[in-house]
Amino acid sequence: MKYQVFARKWRPKNFNEVIGQKYIIKAISNSLKLNRIHQAWILYGTRGIGKTTIARILSKCLNCKKKITDIPCQKCNSCLEIEKNCSPDLIEIDAASKTKIEDIKELLENSKYPPIKERFKIYLIDEIHMLSRYSFNALLKTLEEPPKHVKFILATTNIEKLPKTIISRCLRLNLTTISEKKIENNIKKILKKEKINFEKNTLNLISLSADGSMRDALSITEQAISLGNGKIKNSYVKKMLGIFKYKNFINLLQSIFDQNIKKILFFSEKILSLDVEPDRILVELLRLLHYLHILKIYSIQWKSKIYNNQQKKILKKISKKNSYSDIKNYYSILLNGRKNINLSPSKKIGMELALLNTLNIKK
Ligand SMILES: Nc1ncnc2c1ncn2[C@@H]1O[C@H](COP(=O)(O)OP(=O)(O)OP(=O)(O)O)[C@@H](O)[C@H]1O
Ligand SMILES: [Mg+2]
Ligand SMILES: [Zn+2]
Repeated sequence: MKYQVFARKWRPKNFNEVIGQKYIIKAISNSLKLNRIHQAWILYGTRGIGKTTIARILSKCLNCKKKITDIPCQKCNSCLEIEKNCSPDLIEIDAASKTKIEDIKELLENSKYPPIKERFKIYLIDEIHMLSRYSFNALLKTLEEPPKHVKFILATTNIEKLPKTIISRCLRLNLTTISEKKIENNIKKILKKEKINFEKNTLNLISLSADGSMRDALSITEQAISLGNGKIKNSYVKKMLGIFKYKNFINLLQSIFDQNIKKILFFSEKILSLDVEPDRILVELLRLLHYLHILKIYSIQWKSKIYNNQQKKILKKISKKNSYSDIKNYYSILLNGRKNINLSPSKKIGMELALLNTLNIKK
């Protein structure tokens, strides 16, 4: 059998297999059960948390041969074709590559014809925020009153870029990132089914670094499996995720609090020489500052799985010695630096400048 990456192989086929997103699924299920079916939905949220997955399940719900349902049968032709990505009446469009007004006009023209063989003709438009202004305008009227046989499911990672007029014509569904615990449990379940062994503590490291995205978690897991030659080993995962570099991140953080320019440049160079991306340096510093932030407010030893006990001690010291407003300021300076990193002549320069900007604030 052809090898399929985990993320595709383990895409939930039904709502009950979707992890998290409880309220959205409830809202969709209820409206299906009550037969109060919208003409357009918009799913939004960050990468890899289930937008395309939910859109495909919803399409099955709408077009299942048995009836409109919140539990598609998975057996009829319609369900199977959607599963295999070959249903003629589920038209998936990547708006990022079809931004032009001609593309949308063609789509709208075609939408007038009835579905080929199913109940509805469903347009699943991904990254909808990429459309041009003219395209949005062209879409508005049809979105408001589509032909009876047409449904729109829109997905975006960037709802701020969408005109309000578009949003207000759809049922809005806001997907949230997935908790570490839920990610960890899901990986565990999948590994069991795949009969792949893993060492203790590896899965929580993976789910932590996935940052709420199930797809990222699955692809990190797969990388770890190939590195460990079929087994997930602690040492490899740690290496892969750059955990051994934490000492250097903490040293860099310390030099920022010490306002020591020489050391700041020294440690940032050192981390770069370990093949860490400039952006990642800022991310790790932000993570550390967030940790300090919490220590400062609650002065509790917050359970962190990334930092070891010795590192936690150092962090506690730093938090004691420095003011809350410094911690907050550094956070916002580095965050700003991260926002602008792509505009800088190079990412390295962007990162360094962000670090150096922390120097001014005490003057
Ligand atoms: N909520 C979830 N429950 C279970 N698995 C999930 C979930 N979200 C994502 N996944 C896994 O990640 C893969 C990718 O998810 P999906 O394509 O739905 O993400 P997306 O939100 O559309 O991301 P993108 O914005 O990058 O398109 C799925 O095939 C599935 O394996
Ligand atoms: Mg998607
Ligand atoms: Zn069916």
